[in-house]
Amino acid sequence: MTSTGVLPRSLRSGPDVSFVPRVLPADGSGPEDLSAHLERHGTCAQNHTSKEWRDSVLHEIECAGLFGRGGAAFPTVQKLRAVLAGTRQPLVIGNGTEGEPASMKDRVLLARAPHLVLDGAAVAADIIMAAEIVLVVHREVRAAVDAAVDERLQRGIDRVPVRVVTAADSFVAGEASAVVNWVERGRAVPMDKPPRMSERGLGRRPTLVQNVETLAHLALICRHGSEWYREIGTPGEPGSMLVTIAGSVERVGVREVAIGSRVSDILALAGGPSAELQALLIGGYFGRWISSDSAMTLPFSAQSLKVGLGAGLLVAFPASGCGLAETARLARYMATQSAGQCGPCKFGLPAIAHELEVLAQGGPARMNELTRWLVEVDGRGACSHPDGAARQIRSALDVFHHEVERHLEGWCSASDTTPIPLLIEGGSR
Ligand SMILES: Cc1cc2nc3c(=O)[nH]c(=O)nc-3n(C[C@H](O)[C@H](O)[C@H](O)COP(=O)(O)O)c2cc1C
Ligand code: SF4
Repeated sequence: MTSTGVLPRSLRSGPDVSFVPRVLPADGSGPEDLSAHLERHGTCAQNHTSKEWRDSVLHEIECAGLFGRGGAAFPTVQKLRAVLAGTRQPLVIGNGTEGEPASMKDRVLLARAPHLVLDGAAVAADIIMAAEIVLVVHREVRAAVDAAVDERLQRGIDRVPVRVVTAADSFVAGEASAVVNWVERGRAVPMDKPPRMSERGLGRRPTLVQNVETLAHLALICRHGSEWYREIGTPGEPGSMLVTIAGSVERVGVREVAIGSRVSDILALAGGPSAELQALLIGGYFGRWISSDSAMTLPFSAQSLKVGLGAGLLVAFPASGCGLAETARLARYMATQSAGQCGPCKFGLPAIAHELEVLAQGGPARMNELTRWLVEVDGRGACSHPDGAARQIRSALDVFHHEVERHLEGWCSASDTTPIPLLIEGGSR
């Protein structure tokens, strides 16, 4: 049985929800209750604690090539092994904060298939012999997750207790150390590193912080094995991933696609472009702009697009828009969203945003300074917020270089500078 009773309207099913239905239900229904979940996937190999089981499942995860879906694409097996090497009993945090304003994929996953994420968290807890699972979830899906956790409690299917926490509402709140800070102290700002969370995180215990989508894939690898997992995707980036398709497309939404699907085919899943396009923003606010002409026929993979796929965002930007106005808006947003604790965020990002605003308005922008600051902020913060922002802005100045020249001459070729849908204004924050 499935029901949409506790789903917010924005997360209810639409047609054509998934292209390769693995983690999402094929028919777009949800939330799946436990019976529907078990009917779709069968039982999960959880509540094992033997060393043989742990070694074999770690081997499968390694062979599968599972990497994180929270942004950095880090190999999951390495994080599991790092936490296992600790001396105190560890914890698992499922990160469903979804701080990226244009992303909806973690909410859609938790709203439709909460039990798959909980299975993944339970298996991760078994692998690292964790004492507790903390699931940090966006407020819009709290009710769906609570209902799933209650159902499992009643059926007594989990060995490790699960605590659900509503996530804080800011861009940096989803950074791993900010999540720990939020759960522990109610302050969703990143902490200085080292130590890494895998060494000392929540309650000073080794903590495995894993994006909720990563946990869902982990649950499937434990059921079906690495060979099955690698049946789709590319050799270097196997499997499927959730993509939020936004901007100038007919139907903004989340689709599950095989990694390596053609970019144009993924846009087609969203009904195709709703206007002539000039560029795509791949990977989100920490991602990279790329001209639509060069991207359309390429496979959607980090290797072919030469950019991390981040939280799986694909934003279509129309030919009628001004890429510099949009970039200035994003830069200002990134400057306001930092925790303001480190120099690059306190001084660098606001100065960069100001200079981009001058440029976007056709004023006398100081391009040399702008270029220098974009290099100077890189790698200087306690977290990678300034690095990600600088990377995205540098790519914008490159892709929209004709527009930069026009603006420096005092004019703009855009016919419409309305912010594109879902970039900030349409998001949840
Ligand atoms: C500024 C910033 C914001 C982040 N926001 C999120 C987020 O909202 N959700 C998420 O899962 N990871 C986010 N991350 C990445 C996390 O720090 C962490 O790498 C991730 O949750 C680990 O899970 P994964 O290995 O499964 O991807 C963010 C990172 C940075 C630097
Ligand atoms: S780099 Fe920026 S966002 Fe990251 S901790 Fe420092 S001030 Fe906060």
